Amino acid sequence: MVAIVDILKGYHTGEEVELRGWIYRTRSVGGKVFVVLRDATGVLQVTIARDAVPPEAFATIEKALIESSVVVRGTIAEDKRAPGGYELRAKDVRVVHSAEKFPIQEDLSEEFLLDVRHLWVRSQRMTTIFRIRHTAFAAVHEYFRSQGFWEVHPPMLTSAGSEGGATLFEVEYFGRKAYLSQSWQLYAEALALAMEKIYYVAPSFRAEKSRTTRHLTEYWHAEMEQAWAGMDEVIGHAEAVISHVCQRVAEERPDDVTALGRAPEFLKAVKPPFERITYEEALKVLKEKGIEIEWGKDLRTLEERALTEGKPKPIVVTHYPRISQAFYKARDPTRPDLVLGFDVIGGDGVGEIVGGSERETDLETIERSLVEQGEDPKAYGWYLDSRRYGSVQHSGFGMGMERLIQWICKLEHIRDAVPFPRTPGRVSP
Ligand code: 4AD
Ligand code: MG
Repeated sequence: MVAIVDILKGYHTGEEVELRGWIYRTRSVGGKVFVVLRDATGVLQVTIARDAVPPEAFATIEKALIESSVVVRGTIAEDKRAPGGYELRAKDVRVVHSAEKFPIQEDLSEEFLLDVRHLWVRSQRMTTIFRIRHTAFAAVHEYFRSQGFWEVHPPMLTSAGSEGGATLFEVEYFGRKAYLSQSWQLYAEALALAMEKIYYVAPSFRAEKSRTTRHLTEYWHAEMEQAWAGMDEVIGHAEAVISHVCQRVAEERPDDVTALGRAPEFLKAVKPPFERITYEEALKVLKEKGIEIEWGKDLRTLEERALTEGKPKPIVVTHYPRISQAFYKARDPTRPDLVLGFDVIGGDGVGEIVGGSERETDLETIERSLVEQGEDPKAYGWYLDSRRYGSVQHSGFGMGMERLIQWICKLEHIRDAVPFPRTPGRVSP
């Protein structure tokens, strides 16, 4: 058994091989059937001549519709006319399952493709993205482990949120209210006082009603937290982990990213340090570009686009105004109206890829922030113990894996960065 990717690299030329796959395209001309077969790694032309295979075999393959599953045996030959430059010349072919008429044809609407996502995941576009996603996830684990971070897991069912009540998914928990995790935030801060350098990668949930090209209601979140570290140190990790993912994707999947319109060289150039500017400097830059925003207002897509325009790497924006920032973010000691918080912003309209901060260590300040934001400090009792027993400076961030993949793959919509996207309008298939 061989993989198509290896055939296309020339590893099996002249050999007799057995190949398993699904019919991607098929046409017959003058006593020959040309089947483009796909497996998990690519597509290959298979030529089946009437007189080269048993008559029953030819009769079945001639009638087989696309997405029928097939096992074929034959010789690999180089052939300039075949897509990819190689073909398999069949000696025998067996149709394992004759597919019904496949519902996906050319020129179908985005909505229809989302309805049949369970079938559309077989497309070349989707499988190319899945392979890059596979490499990206491995690279995140590889980076944090190589830097001495422990992988440690928080619960997904929680008793309180950390990123604001508006986006909490509520679940009925044996007569009580519980919530799906928006972030490991509260648990990370407790665990950082135990394990010091920690990370994990898992889904986060946001009851985000906004229908944009960069929001999902369920997304994969890579988060890290580090005791004895300030904001600058974790910005360094954010830059380095993004760079590491880009390097790995460029090395391991150059053809896949190229197929999606991103040059491997572009990714190779994504090395630290990234450009860093403060929120207030960003406002000045925007003003020069004719975009005025009121101090304290969040940067929206328009502003993020303007700031990253023409930049080959993501940028880091730091020191956001305290108003509208989560309660756990540390005040800037020199400017109490700002927080020691940062975002990493990617170009091409992807926007915020990473959000992070140093954490407030003062118990009373946090309690006051919770009240200001309309939360009940009692619901955060256990969390506040991290400020009662051996509180230390600590910082961390969260990175949206689909945002990162969207940026790397130049995807117009974040939903293509994940096999089965969850959005306000869709929870099936
Ligand atoms: O900026 P956020 O809300 O930060 C936190 O949750 C912090 N507690 C993280 C931390 O410090 N440990 O979310 C972090 C990242 C964002 O930068 C974005 O990339 C991603 O999570 N994200 C989303 N991705 C897809 N769809 C959504 N609805 C997202 N909301 C946030
Ligand atoms: Mg954020």
